[in-house]
Amino acid sequence: ASLCRLLSLCLLLSLSLSICTSPCRQTLMPAWVLDKYGNNNVLRFAKSTLFPIVHYPNEVIIKVHASSLNPIDISMRNGYGAATLNMRRDPLSINPAGSEFPLILGRDVSGVIMESGLDVSFFKPGDKVWAAIPPWKQGTLGEFVVASANEVSHKPKGLSHIQAAALPYVALTAWSALVNTAGLKKDNCKGKRILILGGSGGVGTFTIQLTKAWGAHVTTTCSQDAFSFVKDLGADHAVDYKTPHVEQQLKTLDLFDLILDNVGGDTEKWALSLLRPWSGATYVTLITPLMLNMDRLGVPDGMLRSGVTVGTKVLKHLRNGVHYRWGFFAPSGPSLDEIVALVDEGKIRPVVEQVFSFSEVPEAFQKLEGGHARGKIVIDGIGSGK
Ligand SMILES: NC(=O)c1ccc[n+]([C@@H]2O[C@H](COP(=O)([O-])OP(=O)(O)OC[C@H]3O[C@@H](n4cnc5c(N)ncnc54)[C@H](OP(=O)(O)O)[C@@H]3O)[C@@H](O)[C@H]2O)c1
Repeated sequence: ASLCRLLSLCLLLSLSLSICTSPCRQTLMPAWVLDKYGNNNVLRFAKSTLFPIVHYPNEVIIKVHASSLNPIDISMRNGYGAATLNMRRDPLSINPAGSEFPLILGRDVSGVIMESGLDVSFFKPGDKVWAAIPPWKQGTLGEFVVASANEVSHKPKGLSHIQAAALPYVALTAWSALVNTAGLKKDNCKGKRILILGGSGGVGTFTIQLTKAWGAHVTTTCSQDAFSFVKDLGADHAVDYKTPHVEQQLKTLDLFDLILDNVGGDTEKWALSLLRPWSGATYVTLITPLMLNMDRLGVPDGMLRSGVTVGTKVLKHLRNGVHYRWGFFAPSGPSLDEIVALVDEGKIRPVVEQVFSFSEVPEAFQKLEGGHARGKIVIDGIGSGK
C-alpha cells in the first residue's frame, strides 16, 4: 500500500510539473499542521511539509502573505466536519483513515501568484490576489496554498495583505447568504429594514457595511460595549443582546425585510416573528446542523435528515408568510471581484482586531476561542515582515 501511495505521489508530482506554467522549484515549506484533532495543543509547527501540488490545469499556487482565522478553524481543529470533508477530499475512500493529516487549517489568503496552471489565463505569476479556500482543501496557515483560479480574485490595490486577509471568508459567507440565498442586491436593497443578529464579529461587521453601502436601514444586536464600534461601521440602531428579553425590545421596532442570524441557539424561536409577513421577507441563519448531521449519520442520511429539517421549517414559516433559509459560505472569485469594487469605492473596509505573527498561530487560536470578536484575527504570512 505504501508503494502504491509513493507511486501516486510521484505521478501527481510529475503531473503538476506538466500542468504548471513554470517548474516548481521548492519541495518543502513551513506550515502549522494538525496530526490529529483536539485542543490547541494539537497545532504543530512543521518546518518541512510537502509543497502543495497543482492537481488540475485551472489551479494556481499562491505565496501566502497573510491569512486570518475564523470560527470554523476552531471547529475543524476539534474535528468538526472530519467525516464529511474527508468524503469530499477522497470520494472513493481509497486512502486509509487519517489520510487528511498533516492537515493545514486557515481559509483566508492574501498573497502573490507563484505558479499558474496552463488553463489559467486571468492570473499570472506575480499578481497580488486574495481568496477564501474551501474547507475540504489544505488551508492557508502555510507558506504556500493551492486554489482553483475561480476561487481567486485580484486583491484591492488600496489594502495591504494584512488588511485584505481579513475579508474573503466572512465576506463570501455574507455574500452567499444575502445575495445567493436571500436574493438581495444593490438595486433592491435601498430602504429595506435589515436586522443582523450578532453584528460585532467577522461576518457581522462585513454585513453591516455591505447592506449600508446598498442603502438599507440596519439594526444589529451586539454587546453594549460594541455599540460605538458597530455604529462607526454604519449601523443605524444597536440593541444589547445581553439585556433581558432582547426579543421584546426588537418587537417594539418596525418589522424587518431581512434577518441574517450569526448567533443561532434559540434565536429562530422568536426572530421570524420580527419579519414583515407576505412581503417576501426572509430569515437566513448561518448556524445549521448540516455538517454535524453528516458527520454523525454519514453523508446520505445526514443530508436527508437536514433536508427534512429545513424543508419542515420552510413550510411551517411559509404558512405565516415569511421565508426561512439556511446560509453557507461559498468560495467565489467573481463575488470577490464585486467586493473589490466596493472596497475601492471606500464603502467596505476590513476590520482587523489583532495581528499575530506566523510563530504565534496557537496564541491567535486562543484569542479567537476566547470569544468577543470585534472584527478579525489576522496572521502575518511567514517571511512577509509585519
Ligand atoms: N454556515 C456557514 O457557512 C458559516 C460561515 C461563516 C460563519 N458561520 C458562523 O457564523 C457565526 C459568526 O461568525 P463570525 O466569523 O462572525 O464569528 P466571530 O467573528 O467569532 O463573531 C461572533 C460575534 O458574535 C457576538 N455574539 C456572541 N453571542 C451573541 C448574541 N447572543 N447576540 C449577538 N451577538 C453575539 C460576539 O461578541 P460578544 O462575545 O462580545 O458578545 C462576536 O462579536 C459563527 O457561529 C460561525 O461559525 C457559519
